Amino acid sequence: MTAANGASTTSSPSSTTPSSSSTAKPTSILFVCLGNICRSPMAEGVFRHLLTSSPSHPPITRIDSCGTGAYHIGDPPDPRTMSVLEDHGITSYRHRARKLSRKDFDEFEWIMAMDEDNLDYLSRMRRKIVENKGMSEEEAERLGKVGLWGDFGGNPGEEVVDPYYGARDGFSIAYEQMVRFSRGFLRFLEERGEQGALDELNRS
Ligand code: 4NP
Repeated sequence: MTAANGASTTSSPSSTTPSSSSTAKPTSILFVCLGNICRSPMAEGVFRHLLTSSPSHPPITRIDSCGTGAYHIGDPPDPRTMSVLEDHGITSYRHRARKLSRKDFDEFEWIMAMDEDNLDYLSRMRRKIVENKGMSEEEAERLGKVGLWGDFGGNPGEEVVDPYYGARDGFSIAYEQMVRFSRGFLRFLEERGEQGALDELNRS
């Protein structure tokens, strides 16, 4: 995972979520897959839902998802994604597919890939931005951090297999993964917030 410090946290009404913790620094997260109709909207829907029942998470100013490909721009999530979400009580999530853009690296602190191909794409794009803009190390550190979403689930390197061409079962497996990864990420943020508060105390 590429290490970097915070990114700007521009928010829009459709992608803003309430926050509750006072100690941790605000963050923002973008979920990325290929088509932005199966896995990344599933990740977004699950993550948004879990936030409503996770009182100690730090402020999350923006949550969104997108694809590295342009095949489905403007389309709603795959009906199998929506139906698995609905099976788990997530009924209000809405999304229209969009393609990843360079400005996402300025706007999100975390840019999380569903599989290694997506991760390669993100890493290459990030590197190109740094090179093309001739960024200093400090400037580059302010760009979004790219990583594999599955690294937060307890089994480093775990990918979310693309369920698009398979049976509905693949979507149920993806759902279970998204819950596990989201919980792991929220724990990570809480610990990071606690560590930040401890650092503050130690400094005073
Ligand atoms: P996703 O799945 O990346 O999880 O949204 C896919 C959806 C559509 C296509 C590929 C993957 N497609 O080639 O159309």
